[in-house]
This record gives sequence, structure tokens and C-alpha cells, in this order.
Amino acid sequence: MQILKTPQDIQSQCRKWRDDGASVALVPTMGYYHAGHMDLMRHARTLADKLVVSLFVNPAQFGPGEDLAAYPRDSERDAAIARDLGVDALFTPTPEVMYAPDHATWVAVPDLARGLCGAARPVHFRGVCTVVLKLFMLTSPDVAVFGRKDWQQLAIIRRMARDLNLPVRIEGRPTVREEDGLALSSRNVYMTPEERAQAPEIRNGLLLAREMVRRGERRVPLLTQAVLHRWAEHLPLGRPDYLSVVHPESLEPLDAVGDAALMACAVRMGKARLIDNILLTA
Ligand code: PAF
Repeated sequence: MQILKTPQDIQSQCRKWRDDGASVALVPTMGYYHAGHMDLMRHARTLADKLVVSLFVNPAQFGPGEDLAAYPRDSERDAAIARDLGVDALFTPTPEVMYAPDHATWVAVPDLARGLCGAARPVHFRGVCTVVLKLFMLTSPDVAVFGRKDWQQLAIIRRMARDLNLPVRIEGRPTVREEDGLALSSRNVYMTPEERAQAPEIRNGLLLAREMVRRGERRVPLLTQAVLHRWAEHLPLGRPDYLSVVHPESLEPLDAVGDAALMACAVRMGKARLIDNILLTA
């Protein structure tokens, strides 16, 4: 596995592969790998001749007061995992080589970035879109793979790729969970043992909503009320940031569950802000 650190190096390597007729898959990551990242890499490995993984804690997607400095990092372990999974090139740039001091160009999908996580993190998705587009320009992937835990991110990237006619297929992978149902996240390490013990209740609340839909309930206010009620009882250490039911593609809020509906949430558990989601009609 090559470890490439500059935009020039990754771009010329990917160009060379493409000139030789090889297809390229990309998995963008911020590192501190867990089984969710490993699933993305394993899956991407099956999709193309060459697999590129980027490992970059992108400052542009962190707002003031967010956890940029504290974001967990372990680049040596990450590189060993990537190597074991058959990654051909690990791209590990520094912020300085990714962003010029007078960087002034941003890509945004405001209509999809306004609600859900975007409400509390106003610059987040602009930073995500900008770095992901830069990574696409550097690696020219045939396919790029993202996790569905970050559903809003995936929907926004799909929309960006469609609207800008980017020649890349976007694939979403199911959320990987701990045995007790907690969605894997690099930020889970921020939790105390007490918070960690309660955290699976986030998922249990969402499962309750899906079960209510299965039994015929369609009214969104009743569904959210039931989840919040359950959380108040079983998740006292959690502070819900939002709990919304939206259309899975447009991310427009819904009053009633129709053919396609996604319940998404963010819950603060001490220092951790955890997100999760569930398709109510799957
Ligand atoms: O999901 C992430 O880890 C990041 O938002 C991404 C897609 C790697 C962009 O920095």
C-alpha cells in the first residue's frame, strides 16, 4: 500500500491507474477506524481494480467550538488496518496542502443542508461537500462509498454528484452497530461508561417508532412524542438535539408517514453528539 501525502501525488497516481485502464474506488474517511469504516473499505475493494482511501480530519467541516482538536486520531493503526484490507493508496494530506491560506471556493447544497444536523452545524455540510468534491477531482473515482449512518451527508453528496454531473457512482452502506444496537462512531469514545450504557436507547427509540408504523400509526407528531417519551424514561443522560421525520431523498419534513420516510436524530451524551436514523417504511 502506498501512503501519499500531497494532492499532486494522489492525482498523478490515480491518473496513471486510469491511463492503464484500471477502475478506481474511493472511500473518504476521517480515520480512527472501526468496523463501520472496515465495512466500507471491504465493500469498495470489490467494486474496482484500485482502492483509494483518504484519511483527513477536514477542518472545513468543523464549526467554532466543535471537536476538531479533540477528534480521535491513530494514524499508525489506521494505516495497518487499511493495508490489511487491501487498500492500494492511503491519502493522508495535511490541512495546509488541502487548503491554501486564501482558499475561497465552497460547494454547498443549502436546501438539503438547512435541517437535521445542518441546523446546529451551519458550516458542516459546506465543508463536507467541498472536501469530497476536491477528493473526487484528485482521484477521479468510478465509485465512492459512504455510510448510511450519516444519512444527510449521503443525500447531500448524491445530490451534489447529480447536480454537477460528476462521473462517479455513489454507494451507501448500512450502519454497522455494536451488539446492543449502538451505531459505531469514532465519537463513541467520548462517552463515560454510564453514558455508553444508556446510548443503545437511541436506537431503541427509533425501533419503537418503526414498530408503531408497522402497526398502522402514520402521524409524525405521535411517533416523535412516543420516542421522546421513551428517551425521557430510558435515556436520562441524553439531550436530544433533534428528532425528525423527513423524506429520505429531499430531506423535507413530513407530517405523516407515506411510502418513504426516514426518522433521524442527534442526541448529545455528555461530550458526544451521536446521530442515528431509521427508515420507517422499510
Ligand atoms: O463521513 C466522514 O467521515 C466525513 O464527513 C468525510 C465524508 C470523510 C468528509 O470529510
